[in-house]
Amino acid sequence: MDKIVIHGGVALRGRIAVSGSKNAALPILMSSLLTTEPVVVHNVPRLRDVHTALGLLEGLGVKIQWIDEHSVQLHAREVIGHEASYELVKTMRASFCVLGPLLARTGRARVSTPGGCAIGARPVNLHINGIRALGARIQLRHGYVEAHAQHLQGARLWLDNPSVGATENIMMAAVRARGHTTIENAAREPEVQDLGRMLMAMGAQIEGVGTHVIEIEGVERLHGAEYHVSPDRIEAGSFMIAAAITGGEVLIENAPAHQLDALSVKLREAGATVTVVDGGIQVTRAGALRPLEVRTLPYPGFPTDLQAQMMALLTQANGTSVITETIFENRFMHAPELMRMGAEIAMKGATAVVRGPTRLSGAPVMATDLRASMGLILAGLAGDNETQVSRVYHLDRGYEALDAKLRGLGAQIERVPE
Ligand code: EPZ
Repeated sequence: MDKIVIHGGVALRGRIAVSGSKNAALPILMSSLLTTEPVVVHNVPRLRDVHTALGLLEGLGVKIQWIDEHSVQLHAREVIGHEASYELVKTMRASFCVLGPLLARTGRARVSTPGGCAIGARPVNLHINGIRALGARIQLRHGYVEAHAQHLQGARLWLDNPSVGATENIMMAAVRARGHTTIENAAREPEVQDLGRMLMAMGAQIEGVGTHVIEIEGVERLHGAEYHVSPDRIEAGSFMIAAAITGGEVLIENAPAHQLDALSVKLREAGATVTVVDGGIQVTRAGALRPLEVRTLPYPGFPTDLQAQMMALLTQANGTSVITETIFENRFMHAPELMRMGAEIAMKGATAVVRGPTRLSGAPVMATDLRASMGLILAGLAGDNETQVSRVYHLDRGYEALDAKLRGLGAQIERVPE
C-alpha cells in the first residue's frame, strides 16, 4: 500500500480544480437501475468508491462504458441480480442506497446491512422504515435486509432526523411508486438536490428538493437522461482550508460558492480573505489566525465532512477554539494523531477544545476515514519537516489525484510505496 509523504511549510499558491462530487455521484449512478434506457453521467470523479459502485451495478447486470475520463454510460436494460453482498456494503456504506432503486425496478432486493463504522454506529433504520412505509415487506435475516414489493405505494413519511442516505434511498423508491409520497424532515444537502435533478431529468415528478418537504408523484416509467454531477463542495472546502492553513493564495476553480457559505463565514472570522470570483473562490491568508467556535450541523450548517480539516486549521489559531460534532458520535479520531504532531486538544463527548497556536512537527500518522486523513494532510502541509500519512486507501475513496493537485500549488507532497 502507498503512503503520502509531505514536507511542510510551503505557502500554497495558484489554481486548483475541483472534481465532481463523490457523494452526489454515488446515488446518481445507482439511479440508472430505474430505467431500461441508457443514462450518461458526466463529471464523475475517478475514485475508489465510484469504482465500487460501478462494480455493484455491473454485478446486477448494468452495462457500463466509460466514454471519456469523467463520463460514463450506464445501461440497465435487464437487471439480473437482486443482492448487494456484505463484502460490498462493508467496503462502502453508500452501497445500501441500492435498496430503493433495485426494489422499485425488480420488486425484490437483498442488501446487507452495513454495521458500524469508524465514525459512529450509523444505523439504517430510517431507510428501512421509509421503504417499509412505501408498502415493501421487509425482513432482517442473517445480516441482510430482504425486501419484496409487487408494487410500491406512495405514502406520507416523516424522518426522525434529516438523513442524507435515507432521503436518497426513499426518493429512488418513491419515484416509481403508485401515487404520491411526501418526505417530511428530508435532508437538504446539495447531494440530495443533485440526485433530485437527475431523477427529474429521467422523467420523475419531484418538488421541494432542497427543502425539508419533498413531494413525489410516482410515474410508471423513467427514461434515459444525460446529467452533469456538481462539483464536490467538500473537496473544494478542503482546498480552501489548505490555502488558509499554509498562509497561501489559492483560486479554487469551480468551487460551488453558495454551498460553502458556512465555511466561508468561519474562514473570514478566522482572518482569511475569501472572495467569490468568476469561476470559483479565492482564499488568501496573510495575518495571524483567530480562534473559532464551530458546530457541525445538517446543511446549510457547517458540514461534518469538513470538521477534521477545520480542527487542523485551528491548531494554528491564536487562542482557544471549540468544535462541537453533532452529526456523528465518534468523529474525533484525527485528534489523537494531530496531538502526536504537537497539537493541544482536549476532548469531552461531542466537544473538542483546541488550544493554539502550536507548532506542528512532522510525524508518521494514520487515520480511520477519508476526512480525518485529509485533516492530517493539511496538518502536514502546515508542519515542520516530514509527515507521512499511511492508509492512503481512505484518501483514494474520496479525493481524486490529491497529491498531483496539491503539487500544482507548490506543495511538497508525494505518494510512495510503503
Ligand atoms: C452522508 O452519509 C455522507 N455519505 C457522509 O459523508 C456525510 O458525513 C453524511 O451524509 C452527513 O452529511 C454519503 O453521501 C455517501 P446520514 P449518510 O444518514 O447518508 C443517523 C464522507 O466522508 N442515521 O445523513 O450515511 C446517522 O447515524 C461521508 O464522504 C440514523 O440514525 O449520513 C448520523 O448520526 C462520511 N438512522 C445521522 O443520522 C438512519 O437510518 C446523519 O447520517 C440513517 C442515519
